[in-house]
Amino acid sequence: MLERVDPIETPQVETRDVRLDYGELTAVNNLSLQIPRGEIYGLVGPNGAGKTSLLKMLANLIRPTYGELFICGIDLAENPRAAYQHIGYMPDLSPVAPELKVWEFLEFFAASYGVPAAKRKQRVNQCLEQVKMTEHRNAYGKNLSRGMTQRVVLAKTLIPKPKVLLLDEPASGLDPIARINLKKILVALSKQGVTTVISSHILTELADMCTSIGIMDKGRLLKSGTIESILNSRPHSTLSLNVIAGEENLTAVLEENPLVSQVVKKDGAFVVDFTGDVEDEAELLKALILADISVTSFRKVAASMEDTLIELVSPDGHVERDKVIVSDENIESDPSTEATNND
Ligand SMILES: Nc1ncnc2c1ncn2[C@@H]1O[C@H](COP(=O)(O)OP(=O)(O)OP(=O)(O)O)[C@@H](O)[C@H]1O
Ligand SMILES: [Mg+2]
Repeated sequence: MLERVDPIETPQVETRDVRLDYGELTAVNNLSLQIPRGEIYGLVGPNGAGKTSLLKMLANLIRPTYGELFICGIDLAENPRAAYQHIGYMPDLSPVAPELKVWEFLEFFAASYGVPAAKRKQRVNQCLEQVKMTEHRNAYGKNLSRGMTQRVVLAKTLIPKPKVLLLDEPASGLDPIARINLKKILVALSKQGVTTVISSHILTELADMCTSIGIMDKGRLLKSGTIESILNSRPHSTLSLNVIAGEENLTAVLEENPLVSQVVKKDGAFVVDFTGDVEDEAELLKALILADISVTSFRKVAASMEDTLIELVSPDGHVERDKVIVSDENIESDPSTEATNND
């Protein structure tokens, strides 16, 4: 069969209506996704969300119950061998051979990936350097720390120069420097056109290394896009305002506004839990000014990514509270009201 041409605009990873059932349990549900070339796509979601199941299907280790998957435009069901050539899959907590030295382990895989004997040493050395493990090349697998093992497994994954990297929780166990190095590796590969799908249940672990993210829960892709677009889709926002006069009218205006759910006075500012868009914010500001309140600052507090994730993954995670206006700074703070301050 002729391999399909792989034009630059072909999504490098694509799923169409993919579903995976383990008996009664649906681990991945109706999931459609397109990832363009060079993207570093973070797959985020709580334990059991279906991240590993999706990555395993993309790596052709499990067949979907329903739906289609494409790698570099190649249908995995139709032409798995051709697709597989482009895939570098790093499983979650993958071990290394305990009795082999790091370089022996990597040379073994270089041979199995078909790297010619004359080029194996060079390729292994390049990959060791990429993951900053050159100085440990003679260490035995059994003596590596968890983070070092992760790095060696990543080096192994990079050996065949895959076009699509599927990395399941590669950052878990990495120290901050190794994590920054992982980011550098992925960015450098992205510039060469390599597309990465990288999973984690910690959004902050991925946020600074990904160009876009997908949020999964209970097998479904809840949101997909740039981090900014996902933060902007947050149903709640937090406003912070300062006033120098008219404080006595403030409570009434805020209480009247159906989009305000809670107000806490903190460090001299009123922190307002608000469910509305930018136009609603402008209306609120207008109402405050019309009520003779001298507003000196009115701003949206940047949403925390973890809050956004919790709100998206479990709408109940954002606790609906009675409308309470707290204007006394000295009232002992309740942990649920603390959550409104995302500074
Ligand atoms: N081999 C299997 N047989 C039966 N159920 C499975 C199997 N593998 C996974 N599951 C179930 O499928 C669901 C999704 O699991 P999956 O491993 O894909 O989640 P995950 O998002 O990778 O979670 P984690 O963050 O814990 O790694 C879970 O409910 C899990 O129990
Ligand atoms: Mg997993």
